[in-house]
Amino acid sequence: MLKLLTIVGARPQIIKAAALSRTIKKNFSSEIEEIIVHTGQHYDENMSQIFFDELQIPKPNYNLNVGSGSHGKQTAAMIEGIEEILISEEPNYIVLYGDTNSTLAGAIAASKIHIPIVHIEAGLRSFNKSMPEEINRIMCDHSSTFLFTPTLTGYKNLLNEGFEENNGSFNIDNPGIFHCGDVMYDNSLFFSDISDSKSSIQFSLDLKDKSYILTTIHRNNNTDDPVRLSNIFQGLIEIIETSKLQVVLPLHPRTKNKLQQLPEELQQRIKNNKKLRIIDPVSFLDMIQLEKNAELIITDSGGVQKEAYFFQKPCLILRNETEWVEIIKEGSGVLVNANHDKIIDSFKKMYKSKKSFPPIFGDGNSANFICEKLIENLISSS
Ligand code: UD1
Ligand code: UDP
Repeated sequence: MLKLLTIVGARPQIIKAAALSRTIKKNFSSEIEEIIVHTGQHYDENMSQIFFDELQIPKPNYNLNVGSGSHGKQTAAMIEGIEEILISEEPNYIVLYGDTNSTLAGAIAASKIHIPIVHIEAGLRSFNKSMPEEINRIMCDHSSTFLFTPTLTGYKNLLNEGFEENNGSFNIDNPGIFHCGDVMYDNSLFFSDISDSKSSIQFSLDLKDKSYILTTIHRNNNTDDPVRLSNIFQGLIEIIETSKLQVVLPLHPRTKNKLQQLPEELQQRIKNNKKLRIIDPVSFLDMIQLEKNAELIITDSGGVQKEAYFFQKPCLILRNETEWVEIIKEGSGVLVNANHDKIIDSFKKMYKSKKSFPPIFGDGNSANFICEKLIENLISSS
């Protein structure tokens, strides 16, 4: 039996973990045992528990309840807790997703006590080391034994950093790199129909198809800089005033906490604008419904950028660079940074434009590929 210990902590990791847990349950239950550790990085009901309930992810075996804090404090508390669990559980591999502080903590804890790391969503680079996520993902990749990349660009990034094509038996000094596609794509395909039948958010918000733009904002360089955050909100309000569209904005708690730092006049404009629909974070099934029926998406989220692509929506990306460069290359996404003029100009260009969305995120079976590779390696190394 292969024993995996999975670390989750932030919202997108819980969602990503659903793909692997579902696949283990369906196809590998006699070969793989999964232990789930929640670091507690995200803890509000609608940032954590809602996904376990809705996406049928097994209840975590452990919750470290670390909560929020500075990077150092938060990461240190996670390392301590994860190390203790790794020592008592003795898994064959630890599974880490993405690039959050929970990922970094798992990588440090496991690599020091020689537990091989499986990094899912490996190889992505923004080439901007002022992003906390860039540091986290580089550190995790370079201490991993199995690196699964969601895109070909991710695979090439690893080759450029000295990782080598696979040659058999893997360890931390001789890691295996695999291009497997995106587990988020697995999830979007799997939950799309379920969302159609279960979500009623469009009805609750009285939103007609394509009558709205879906927006999310949470990236720290947008939320923590009042000038950037003001530019974004001014751009959104101007789009509302010059088009027939509403803007639906499920607001991340980080961003909610920063709204009062905006100029008083802008705060009032935000509050009084009936077509700017600021709502609490929504469940994944609700999010899929909102994405599928939006006219366009404006976001700084990594996951939402991709889901815009999966559901064939043009996307304005509120960043200066992206790890998901394929979306830009295909022309369905455009980088607008937090630049008011770029937001407005790009909206005019992208609104109602016809884009193509060739498949670049795999075939929807990435989680299955990952499980097979891990089992195969365990057999060959035993
Ligand atoms: C984290 C990840 C980021 C990821 C995002 C997904 C890091 C460094 N960042 O950013 O890569 O894109 O999650 O959403 O790991 N808060 C709450 N309730 C919660 C969670 C957070 O109120 O349940 C508030 C707290 O004020 C907290 C702030 O949000 O200080 C930021 O949370 P944190 O987990 O540190 O970073 P995120 O911005 O969520
Ligand atoms: N998401 C959600 N509800 C929301 C906002 C986002 O379910 O209110 C989902 C979204 O569909 C995607 C994931 O959360 O699957 C993205 O997470 P987030 O934007 O927090 O982080 P990132 O992907 O940027 O790391």
